[in-house]
Amino acid sequence: MPLLDALARFNDAHPWSHNAHFHPWILRQLPRHCDRALDVGCGSGDLARLLATRAGHVHGIDSDERIIGKARESTDPGLPVTFAVADGRSYDQGAPYDVITCVAVLHHLPLTEALVRFREQLAPGGILVVVGLTREDTRVQTLLGLASVPLNLVTGWIKNRGRTAPRRPVAMTAPTRPADVPYTEFAREVRRVLPGARLRRRLFWRYTLVWKKVRGDVDPGTLRTTQR
Ligand SMILES: C[S@@+](CC[C@H](N)C(=O)[O-])C[C@H]1O[C@@H](n2cnc3c(N)ncnc32)[C@H](O)[C@@H]1O
Repeated sequence: MPLLDALARFNDAHPWSHNAHFHPWILRQLPRHCDRALDVGCGSGDLARLLATRAGHVHGIDSDERIIGKARESTDPGLPVTFAVADGRSYDQGAPYDVITCVAVLHHLPLTEALVRFREQLAPGGILVVVGLTREDTRVQTLLGLASVPLNLVTGWIKNRGRTAPRRPVAMTAPTRPADVPYTEFAREVRRVLPGARLRRRLFWRYTLVWKKVRGDVDPGTLRTTQR
């Protein structure tokens, strides 16, 4: 369709990261200071470096060797941040964490398994903050998606104003894939595995999820029953 092609061309020429847009919001969910933080699927490490303003040590993991190379290159060696090529489905070193973040990655992982793993890896009182994507299957999501179209154009234009050539953020060179789990199914599973989680649908085709692990949380291993 000519209109969709024109939109795609405009967006290509005016790139900006929808994920980085949520970074200030993520920081607002976190305690002023914590000991250990893990960023799962850290990509080029932008969020891990920001978390280092709050955490004694931040570890960023990603399964893509090339993007971990970029994360290391962009990180001042004096920062308390380390990166590793690792699979978020099996990584289990360094736990428990006071903070776990996961931005635009959960739809790359088996949902139930990943939620249970986050719950297990958090320290009592620790906090999980996720920004992610699901397949649109609710009216609210459709409306937010439609409202995001003009806002996306305007934001892209403002962020690239005055540039002769568009500068694609390094973060946008990380591997991506479309989300296939519908929001309704996703929300049901979040409520089951992470009771009390704060889940919201957002602009720019994202949801946000915050869950705090209470002290005395039960072993969630038995919740690994529904798999995707
Ligand atoms: C859309 S990018 C998001 C990167 C970064 N969190 C951001 O906000 O810019 C998805 C990232 O998840 C990583 N990823 C995919 N599957 C993974 C897995 N099984 N374990 C760890 N990282 C994974 C990809 O390599 C990619 O860097």
